[in-house]
Amino acid sequence: MSTPTTPAPNGTGHREWWRDAVVYQVYVRSYSSSGTRGGGAGIGDLPGITSRLPHLRDLGVDAVWITPFYTSPQHDHGYDVADYRDVDRLFGTLADADDLVATAHDLGLKVIVDLVPNHTSDEHVWFRAALAAAPGSRERARYLFRDGRDGPDGPGTEPPNNWQSVFGGAAWTRVPDGQWYLHLFDTTQPDLDWRNPEIGDMFEDVLRFWLDRGADGFRVDVAHGLVKEESLRDQDQVTRPHAADTPMVERTQLDEPMWDRPEVHDVYRRWHRVLADYPGDRMTVAEAWTSTPESMARYVRPDEMQQAFNFAWLLAKWSAQEFADVVTGTFASLDPVGASPTWVLSNHDVVRHVTRYGGGERGLARARAATLTMLGLPGSSYLYQGEELGLEQVDVAPEDRQDPSWFRTGEVGRDGCRVPVPWSGDAPPYGFGPGDAQPWIPQPLDWAGLTVEAQTGVDGSTLEFYRAALAARRALTPVDGVRVSVDGDVLLVERDDVTIAVNCGDFDAPLPAGRVLLASGPVGDTLPPDTAVWLTAPRG
Ligand code: GLC
Repeated sequence: MSTPTTPAPNGTGHREWWRDAVVYQVYVRSYSSSGTRGGGAGIGDLPGITSRLPHLRDLGVDAVWITPFYTSPQHDHGYDVADYRDVDRLFGTLADADDLVATAHDLGLKVIVDLVPNHTSDEHVWFRAALAAAPGSRERARYLFRDGRDGPDGPGTEPPNNWQSVFGGAAWTRVPDGQWYLHLFDTTQPDLDWRNPEIGDMFEDVLRFWLDRGADGFRVDVAHGLVKEESLRDQDQVTRPHAADTPMVERTQLDEPMWDRPEVHDVYRRWHRVLADYPGDRMTVAEAWTSTPESMARYVRPDEMQQAFNFAWLLAKWSAQEFADVVTGTFASLDPVGASPTWVLSNHDVVRHVTRYGGGERGLARARAATLTMLGLPGSSYLYQGEELGLEQVDVAPEDRQDPSWFRTGEVGRDGCRVPVPWSGDAPPYGFGPGDAQPWIPQPLDWAGLTVEAQTGVDGSTLEFYRAALAARRALTPVDGVRVSVDGDVLLVERDDVTIAVNCGDFDAPLPAGRVLLASGPVGDTLPPDTAVWLTAPRG
């Protein structure tokens, strides 16, 4: 198979920074602690991040995305915002945020902040006012309060519809006067009613607040969820198996009145106009778990967002054909809207990719190969803190788990990819914070060999591999398309100056033509299994 791809250029001759950027995701609680802010030495904070920015510059990334650091009761670790215009005392102050942005800019790094518009915290002043006000009031109209349905226990005692929370259980909670409110996530995260114009006005102010403070972009949380079908009707509970023709996301629900409504795009058209008021190619990136590549592409039409996370790449199995299908499918869906792609393998919500690919030596070899392949693809790549150290998902003991989904469902949850980063030393806290204070999730005892300190300057370490790959990537000429082919178990991606080859099979494969520039693992005369290489293009 060979598929030429030629995404439309933006036509202006000016190439925005985000089109080719490598963005590094910092999970604020778990990156680095100065020990001087409200969370103490066990919780990451803004000065801790700022002190590590030179490390990120040396790693070779272009931008940092920082997960929510706003005032929050922390029921979902900041994705429950009580004040969008302030910093939680655990993490520091607004002055610390300003300092972080200024330091990043001095080092040539862009800063993307996380915007959480689908829901507020139940401690937001609006929700408190809604609880204090009567049914039918202006205060309640900012959220989705409804009367319940009649049930065996009496009138209004059943939730208004059958929707389930993403974190498990009913998506509705009843308040003392008998009404119910909608929360697609935790009870402490009430959904806003985006059909109410007051909400859009408030978020425009929030965008401008952070743009004025120098934010280069926003990662938009649950971007596909803001507007619900107006009737709030029941969800049709038909299930279907994973369809091979929709590699985007494994969806079990055919009918989704709460996700990906057409009206949500009006919000992003408005935000596009807001960002255009500012210099420097400010951007938004959508976290939109839509069901097809085509629906993802609707978020990045020319007058909407600049990027959307391409979760198809993250969800692909270890298979040359599946990788090829995702790459060609991505370009095919983005070409018509003229958008450039993004790629991501790990984040704070999913099992780390070393572990997804089987863990241990084999999982690490595959993870490095997938990373090297990703970094060779045109477009923007998102890295998640700790992947440059080859960290695996940690099996966090039940008594140490903190994810709200664990409390609602009893399923393991996401804590295992959120364990604080090991920087130095032989034992926890591995330099995460000053002194011996233990971090908010315990670190494994066998991480001494994985610290930044232990891997720095060590030939073949995962950290030095990432540094080399990012440096090599900087030397590439930006392109907007690639040729993708599959030869047996080997995926080939050809761009103008390099060819990328990855062997997803169980046996050595012939090395394609060209000189090896970079490899994810040891390479001789053949391309071993679980290994990727960059080669000079045959004519190069
Ligand atoms: C997004 C975030 C996730 C959070 C959820 C609710 O999916 O990535 O961490 O729990 O939204 O805000």
